[in-house]
Amino acid sequence: MAGLPQYDGAVDTGSPEKAMPRPSRAPMLSHRMKHDKSILALAVSSRNIFAGTQGGEILVYSLDTYERQRVIEAHKGSVLGFCLSQDEALLFSSATDPIVNVWCTTTFRRLYALWSPYDVGDIFCVAYSSYHHTVYLGAQNTSIQWYDLKEKDSRPRPKLTSHPSERKDRFFDSAGPGGVQTPRPNGADARLRDAVGGQNLEIDKQDIHQFAHFGYVYCMLLGRGILPDAPSDEVLVSGGGDGRIQLWGINAKGGAISKIYTLEDGRDEGESILSLAREGSFLYSGRLDGEINVWDLETRQLVRNLKTETDDVLTLSLGGGLLFAGGKSGVVQKFNQHYETVSTFKAHGGLILASAFTTYNDKATYVTGGNDNTIVIWDVQDCAGPTSDEKRSNNDLMVESLIQFTSFRTVSSLPKYRADCRRGASFLRSVFQNFGAATEMLNTTEPYNPIVFAKFRGNPATAASRKTILFYGHYDVISAENEQGKWKHDPFTLTGEDGYLYGRGISDNKGPIMAAIYAAHELANEQSLGSDIIFLIEGEEESGSRGFAQAIQAKKDLIGDIDWILLANSYWLDDFVPCLTYGLRGVIHATVEIESRHPDLHSGVDGSALLDEPLKDLVMLLSKLTGNHGKVLIPGFYDPILPLTADEKHLYSEITETLLRGNPELGDPEELAQSLMRRWREASLTIHRFQTSGPDNSTIIPRLAKASLSLRLVPNQESSEVAKVMTTFLNTEFQKLDSKNTLKVTIDHQAEPWLGDFNNEIFQTLESAIMSVWGPTHTRRRSSVHASKTLCGISSSSPTTPADTRPTPTTSNTLANGSIEADNTPSSPTLLFKKPLYIREGGSIPSIRFLEKEFGAPAAHLPCGQASDSAHLDNERLRLTNLYNSKMIFKKVFRELPMQ
Ligand code: BES
Ligand code: MN
Repeated sequence: MAGLPQYDGAVDTGSPEKAMPRPSRAPMLSHRMKHDKSILALAVSSRNIFAGTQGGEILVYSLDTYERQRVIEAHKGSVLGFCLSQDEALLFSSATDPIVNVWCTTTFRRLYALWSPYDVGDIFCVAYSSYHHTVYLGAQNTSIQWYDLKEKDSRPRPKLTSHPSERKDRFFDSAGPGGVQTPRPNGADARLRDAVGGQNLEIDKQDIHQFAHFGYVYCMLLGRGILPDAPSDEVLVSGGGDGRIQLWGINAKGGAISKIYTLEDGRDEGESILSLAREGSFLYSGRLDGEINVWDLETRQLVRNLKTETDDVLTLSLGGGLLFAGGKSGVVQKFNQHYETVSTFKAHGGLILASAFTTYNDKATYVTGGNDNTIVIWDVQDCAGPTSDEKRSNNDLMVESLIQFTSFRTVSSLPKYRADCRRGASFLRSVFQNFGAATEMLNTTEPYNPIVFAKFRGNPATAASRKTILFYGHYDVISAENEQGKWKHDPFTLTGEDGYLYGRGISDNKGPIMAAIYAAHELANEQSLGSDIIFLIEGEEESGSRGFAQAIQAKKDLIGDIDWILLANSYWLDDFVPCLTYGLRGVIHATVEIESRHPDLHSGVDGSALLDEPLKDLVMLLSKLTGNHGKVLIPGFYDPILPLTADEKHLYSEITETLLRGNPELGDPEELAQSLMRRWREASLTIHRFQTSGPDNSTIIPRLAKASLSLRLVPNQESSEVAKVMTTFLNTEFQKLDSKNTLKVTIDHQAEPWLGDFNNEIFQTLESAIMSVWGPTHTRRRSSVHASKTLCGISSSSPTTPADTRPTPTTSNTLANGSIEADNTPSSPTLLFKKPLYIREGGSIPSIRFLEKEFGAPAAHLPCGQASDSAHLDNERLRLTNLYNSKMIFKKVFRELPMQ
């Protein structure tokens, strides 16, 4: 089945923020793209969204991944109008400069720059007849002017002195008192990066229709099928400040226009026509105060007057049998074919200035732009067109599943979310069930969350030799209470922005899980699943995988034999180069607690040398754990750690070489390698936090003091052994304090380190899948450093000690923040990577080593996210491209691994 998985699990109606079925009539906000200037014009081709800005730029976005591909510095003034040629090869942009530029939509080079011989004011709109090869512009000086592109080579070349920017400005350039001319502002003529080249064209003085309207020419459209008697004739329709709509015939020779008729509503003083749209023989015009007129072009009559809540109707779009009106109030109002309002929704914080409609991948898509500097892509599911679930692409369905999956607050560490965890697990199970997988809920010991088991069976034809791949993941997430309001959006409402999905757990680990599920489902659908795929998705990983081992051991029969283990729960080293992870550190989480027999006391009343204060004891005790620069002082701690081999060292130089190629500012390769080794192949100790009893004020001697700490372990260190030695060490050191208090050391959870074999067949299969999906990737070098190393360091120093000028160490942040600008100056692109980087990680996943041992199968780890994903932090995110490409990689691996 191809449809969106239906989930009919219990919905808690008591809490509105829970995953509720989406009301079918409201459009779903699918993606918001932010800019730093107003969006005044929009056009959509079959691949791209073009947005014209107040700053004269044309922003080019991919309709596939919503990533901004380019910023074209196109005009010296605001871009006001767009038009695409029918074959979408040409994009016309009009602006206040006042120029019409014509762009090639594949190279984004300028082909022509077109201007009027006269001052026309702003050029509000542009239209193009692909049949007559003629461009029409509608201007502030009430004229419509045109240029027949067939004539471009035979017409005289315009003198550059006729270029609008060379002309004298009536206001600024006129002589002031005493005949002095105001100097032009410096740099006003600075050349724009992209508005260069191509052919300059000047409109012939003959090709101008003065006073096309008795007001500004605000909007135009051009098409066939407008005249009932001559449906194949192209007609230009213009709307003006005079409240009239003019229909113009086009002369086959030269493209001259001549008026056919005027649409008027009989009002004496016409109110401006601000926007136009047409479908078949109906024409829609938008006016002030939320008025829309519907005209029948067959009878030339006004047939309907609609009142909207949009205030001035600044933009109209038609598509999927719906009419979309947007305007001054920031509201979009949607009408059906019977002119009934289907929905009204607030789309922008300011004015809606532009809109467009397209069907991309069978998905009805409505785009709006406004003076809140954003472009929003709306997934309009209630169109009359073929937008049923069956027609929606799997990538869209995958994102929809993730919207639901994210809405469950599956926070394993907070008991108040126990029910949410269960609901999240049962939602996940329903996704598997809808895809035809056999599923079971594996209980862990109460009160821990269950494990979702699912099995996709491979093709029956392969039964005899069938292999089994185990995919491990976790549906639980780190808490995101957003108490400080640092999240840009609600953490449990998946939100699309600038090519990323934002939401808690989207990268760690819900997104990658969904990519793997959809990969298995698609293969099963295509009947090309050559192996069995078993999914074990647990709900306690972020809490140390409580109960996982016992539950799996109890269900070994159900799971059966496993040939390979695959997981996807880590990140690339930077934001550009795909990686494969072959090692993780282990971890021990411990709580150290010191308690006195006294209650909480007042330091003024009871503070004395007679009292052993628990917090003082704790500080003294913890100080014994590490020396300068974090050297761990637990006896024998470093002894088992394996020395660096020459082969291993070589891997690190490969990594630093690649990273530096993309970002030379990262500095010294040796230093960078050192920083990676310290984090991946060396052990460390962290003290996370202190907790004390009693009221939180500075007079209390707390009765109880607690610290939580963790140790990251590396291969060859046994976690249970280290835990034992540490506990003994703390007890011995505590004895030496001769305190009257009591010490308790608790090991909260532990995880074994993992080191995979990156030469085995899973890694090889993953490598070739990555190469075919991602690479080789070229990029342009960054022009400037966004985050210098000091950005990641500690910023303030104590007032009594001089500031330390030594550089702070490179951290994961340094790599995450070093972003390459996608739309940089055209410099020669560098080859970013040939192969994925083989990396290790400093983090831990308790179940990996356990699963390897339990099933006698090797594991491999595909990081899906980028370094800047902010897992465990505020504003966790995952790039759409990474989600889509990860699904493709899983598909390849699920298909090809059994053939190895
Ligand atoms: N995905 C992480 C593991 C990870 C962290 C991989 C950093 C790569 C880099 C996992 O979900 C996690 O958070 N693990 C915990 C385990 C702990 C709670 C036992 C960790 O590493 O702290
Ligand atoms: Mn995590």
